Amino acid sequence: MHNVETFRDLQREATEWRRYLHENPELDFQEHNTAKFVTEKLASFGINHIETGIAETGIVALIQGEGGDGPTIGLRADMDALPIVEASNKPWSSKNPGIMHACGHDGHTAMLLGAAKYLATTRNFKGSVALIFQPAEEPEFPSGGFRMVQEGIMDRFGISQVFGMHIYPGIDIGKFGICPGPIMGSQDDFDIVVKGKGGHAAGPHRTIDPVVIAAQIILGLQCLVSRKTDPLESLVISVTKLSAAQAYNIIPDHVEISGTVRTLLPGLRDFAEQEMLAVAQGIARGFGADVEFKYLRSVPPTINHSEQTKLAITAAQDLVGFASVNDAVKVSLGAEDFAYMLEARPGAYILLGNGPTADCHNPAFDFDDEALSYGIGYWVKLVETALPV
Ligand code: NI
Repeated sequence: MHNVETFRDLQREATEWRRYLHENPELDFQEHNTAKFVTEKLASFGINHIETGIAETGIVALIQGEGGDGPTIGLRADMDALPIVEASNKPWSSKNPGIMHACGHDGHTAMLLGAAKYLATTRNFKGSVALIFQPAEEPEFPSGGFRMVQEGIMDRFGISQVFGMHIYPGIDIGKFGICPGPIMGSQDDFDIVVKGKGGHAAGPHRTIDPVVIAAQIILGLQCLVSRKTDPLESLVISVTKLSAAQAYNIIPDHVEISGTVRTLLPGLRDFAEQEMLAVAQGIARGFGADVEFKYLRSVPPTINHSEQTKLAITAAQDLVGFASVNDAVKVSLGAEDFAYMLEARPGAYILLGNGPTADCHNPAFDFDDEALSYGIGYWVKLVETALPV
């Protein structure tokens, strides 16, 4: 038995690693220095099965337990930073201008390294642990998690279950949040071009004004959410880009509308794609205009499997006690590319409290290192719970 105190020494070490990574952030698929740092650390823990260069800069390392044969479970951390100018004012602020660890991936990497060191020393489990350090969690399709799955890591390393973790500002340090089923949303994007007929702004009857048609399409999309979607199911359609010509006295010949679609249910993605096209086309045709419609599928919803969610809850409760694990956490429609790994194998994704920091993706964000021992402890507990000797 061990509680979080067991991991305090490792926390001190992981804090140094985390701050080094924070100072040296790298963008998606360019995590070369980060990958080198991770690989050297893993080797220094006595781990000799390390494969690098997966999906550009990704790494998978295997640790075998001393409890005999058994399945292999995957633990995943992400390594990429964001194109943000840091404003945390910490001594370990980014040394790479315009790039910043604003989503805690520095902490995720440090926590999985901490767990690797502990597990490689104790090996108190049967079967194997596959440590997955993935590049490029943040970008849209094809992101790093997708590419690692495409490159066959699940089959190649014999991974039968896979687990992810993300820090969460607003949940207290030392607490966890999880739920079975959908926990994060999908992310799809769309482009609509409304093609009318331009002309003099003083003679609208001689044009087909795409600006007015675009305005109706935008409202029509919102009515799809409010009038055609089951109110107990979540669908968000946000128009985020709108562009027409720039003159006061010219009606343009086309208008471009773009935005994002989020949902927790895979079926609602098909619904959104079909119905958005129908609304845009129907409104445009009613006024004699045409539309071009593109629906771009990116990350699917992150959906926790029930059996692995129970394992995750048991492991977290073992570490911090029953009352500190919220097993019905409020879901978010933010997207997470760990979803691809959960499509490939059963598993669970858990949120780890990071206290009252700034929000993720905010220039003032910084990972609170007090969370490190909880993250390390969770990984260790999870392995020893899922692969008992
Ligand atoms: Ni993130």
